[in-house]
Amino acid sequence: MNIASRMAQIEPFHVMELMARAQTLEAEGKSIIHLEVGEPDFATADPILEAARAFLAGGHVHYTAALGLAPLREAVSGFYHARYGIEVSPERIVITAGASGALLLALGVLVNPGDEWLQPDPGYPCNRHFVRLLEGKAVPLPVDAASNFQPDAAQLESAWTSRTRGLMLASPANPTGTLIAPDVMDALADVVAKKSGSLLVDEIYHGLTYDIDATTALATRDDVFVINSFSKYFGMTGWRLGWLVAPQRYIKEIEKLAQNIYIAPSTLAQHAALAAFKPETIAILESRRQEFAARRDILVPGLRALGFQIAAESRGAFYVYANSQKLADDSFRFAGQLLTEAGVAATPGLDFGSNAPEQHMRFAYTVAQPQIEEALDRIAAYLALRNS
Ligand SMILES: Cc1ncc(COP(=O)(O)O)c(C=O)c1O
Repeated sequence: MNIASRMAQIEPFHVMELMARAQTLEAEGKSIIHLEVGEPDFATADPILEAARAFLAGGHVHYTAALGLAPLREAVSGFYHARYGIEVSPERIVITAGASGALLLALGVLVNPGDEWLQPDPGYPCNRHFVRLLEGKAVPLPVDAASNFQPDAAQLESAWTSRTRGLMLASPANPTGTLIAPDVMDALADVVAKKSGSLLVDEIYHGLTYDIDATTALATRDDVFVINSFSKYFGMTGWRLGWLVAPQRYIKEIEKLAQNIYIAPSTLAQHAALAAFKPETIAILESRRQEFAARRDILVPGLRALGFQIAAESRGAFYVYANSQKLADDSFRFAGQLLTEAGVAATPGLDFGSNAPEQHMRFAYTVAQPQIEEALDRIAAYLALRNS
């Protein structure tokens, strides 16, 4: 086999192994509650589905421009105005194949072979693999509960070396659900600017924040790459649509790359997404946000009562990153036991980096409240049996 050597460093999602086991158990008739899934459980909102049907009825499903449909780029620009009160020119907005496509385009125009990119660990696993794919080197920036699982300017300053070219952040973050405060984001951006580096901020979980509003990094600066998506808040994971806001001087290069990698994002998905910003859609999405908050308010105290430690509370996304050290030495093994013995699937820390992964697990509140309650009861029953 002539597999490229880089592939040895591109890991699969370890949780897939667990999900395969879950599927086998389900096929045998066992009930599994899925708290490992990183996508909203709701169906695509009706106004979006209606827009898609209306477009399909016309039958003209051709390529769009590589940077996306002009009306959709304008709609995203309007969204920045409506939600954050800021002006972002549609010319700087690139519609992409999910946040994944946005990450690939941004890093594709920025990363040279051997360049080092700093990324919080734990963090979204694909980030380091994108950098590796482009022959760069992802360098972990260890963060923990004491720092709200986010880096600060002093840490960044001391981690930056002569080989560092950029910093990748996410707020709210996966797997921790924590946000970066606006003043901290500003200070981090100042360090990156001082070092003449590039800053990428993944805002895919914006809109899914509870008791707090997220501020976009674009509010205070233009020299930043912001990643966003229709996947999470807009509940359109399977449509594969996102966007990238980039400094104007990079847009031509990004356009070339998009043309070459995938020609254009999905035409059907773009026409559907035109309805994503309608008031009636936003009303549906906001009621879903309330539902996520209610689920979180069951899951967090429930996990704590079981013995999980949650020092940095989830204030966004739909994840709780819990320390399982008091319950088990190895979260990967523990996740396997919870699956087979309790019928509860959760993601072990191993998927999110090398910073104490064996002590952590990610629980997603992407199932209905009664299922969360049932999952907590099942774990409690398993622990009681195990400890008896
Ligand atoms: C932090 C983060 N960024 C990007 C993505 C990719 O999202 P998509 O390509 O569906 O927009 C995910 C998906 O889980 C994520 O958690």
